[in-house]
Amino acid sequence: MRASSVGLRAVATVFLLWSWGCGAKRDQTTARYLCDRTFRRSALVASLVNPDNAYSRARLARYATGDDQDWDRAAVWNPRVVAVGSGDLGGRDLSAADPGQRLVVDPNQEWLPDDATLRQLGELAFFNYPVQLAPAFALNNEVLARYGLWVDARRGVGGLVFAEMADGTRRIEFTCATCHADRFGGELLVGVPNGHVDIGKMYSDAGERVGASPAASAGYRAWGPGRVDVTTADGRVPERMADLRPIRWASHLHYDATLRQQGVVSLAIRIETLIITSKNGALRPPRIIALALAVYLWSLADTLPPMPPAATAGSRLFDEHCADCHAGPDLGGGPVSLAVVGTDPVLGRSPERGTGAYRAAALRGVAARATLLHDGTLADVSSLLDPGRLDASYLDGARGPGPVRGHPYGLKLDESERRALVAYLRLL
Ligand code: HEC
Ligand code: HEC
Repeated sequence: MRASSVGLRAVATVFLLWSWGCGAKRDQTTARYLCDRTFRRSALVASLVNPDNAYSRARLARYATGDDQDWDRAAVWNPRVVAVGSGDLGGRDLSAADPGQRLVVDPNQEWLPDDATLRQLGELAFFNYPVQLAPAFALNNEVLARYGLWVDARRGVGGLVFAEMADGTRRIEFTCATCHADRFGGELLVGVPNGHVDIGKMYSDAGERVGASPAASAGYRAWGPGRVDVTTADGRVPERMADLRPIRWASHLHYDATLRQQGVVSLAIRIETLIITSKNGALRPPRIIALALAVYLWSLADTLPPMPPAATAGSRLFDEHCADCHAGPDLGGGPVSLAVVGTDPVLGRSPERGTGAYRAAALRGVAARATLLHDGTLADVSSLLDPGRLDASYLDGARGPGPVRGHPYGLKLDESERRALVAYLRLL
């Protein structure tokens, strides 16, 4: 038996042994998220920054409405799953394979485990909960290399799982770990943006993507590794995968600050509705899984490197030129209007998600990101501070030749100041 299925069994047992009623902990906001629809509705409404974009409108029409449009009426998606392991490369007869385990025993559960148990369930779900159907592909080493999927002795292959469909067949699905984990310095780092996985190439090879318009296929190849369009149906606005490690401190969620993060519940609602929309509104996760994922993501801040010493040349330059926007424990901040920051405004203006602003990115952990900016157009902090990137002849952009405009801060520093600031940023 593989390590992952041993883990699943242990947690299923823990959950069977647990029981206390919803009423007992009603005062806790996390319990109210599980039990109280009116509370969930008001938490959603309070989190939406621009109630008029399509992201907000879809949620206002379907989330905790109590009428016959309510996503609560969708079937609960809690299939048996098995993590794809390196033993599965080279083809596997799925009809004879172990069908795996469900992540939770009672998908309609309304009782609240303690934080440590929730985190444990969240970690399992991060690597095992099937969030999005993968296009069909064979499992072998050439395919892994072609699509940039990671292999890890403990965590398996690319965050992929075999999930049991309603008709009993097994299909490969992505988990959170497909996009939000990557190999870095010889180990798998959890929460970092995956800079290698090329999901656009998977879609364009397979000629399929659930929920996409037929016109979309042309755009997929332009995504390149480490980017996905989570905004539009036609795939024209790819974004870099997000770094989830500093999320506990974020005042707003998403690059374009579509949501205020008011406690762990707004993150749980964001995750719950992400899963529902990636299942086209037909399925929803057990709510305890969305909550457990949110609690787990909040714990990832503890895996960031410690803050480097203050009062160095680099930290002083940072305080002088950067700290107006990048502050607090994550060295991030709230929305900055598109006109001020000046980076590519297409996402920030999109009718789907736009709010007219980009959030000041959290800089803790920035060294482990394969690319920078919401659209992943720069390779690293030294190119961000290179004034040459504004020129039409710039060649070093992460998406090919051409200028990368906006975010003009620090471009006037001299060579030695730039070196000192870059060295500081790399320690964050
Ligand atoms: C197919 C790739 C993909 C998968 C699978 C995926 N995400 Fe993401 N995720 C993204 C991208 C791209 C973004 C950036 C969107 C943005 O922030 O505007 C993102 C953003 C986020 C954010 C917002 C981060 C921030 O900085 O505000 C959270 C939270 C998140 N994802 C959680 C999850 C969880 C939990 C799962 C699993 C249930 C998951 N994601 C699965 C691609 C993915
Ligand atoms: C006026 C506010 C403001 C100032 C000042 C500012 N930034 Fe930013 N920064 C932002 C915003 C907004 C973004 C997100 C832009 C985007 O994604 O398009 C950002 C993004 C970044 C990123 C990309 C991080 C990532 O993961 O994509 C880095 C690195 C960064 N800033 C470093 C700095 C440094 C270094 C300075 C000082 C020299 C600085 N910033 C000054 C607002 C600011």
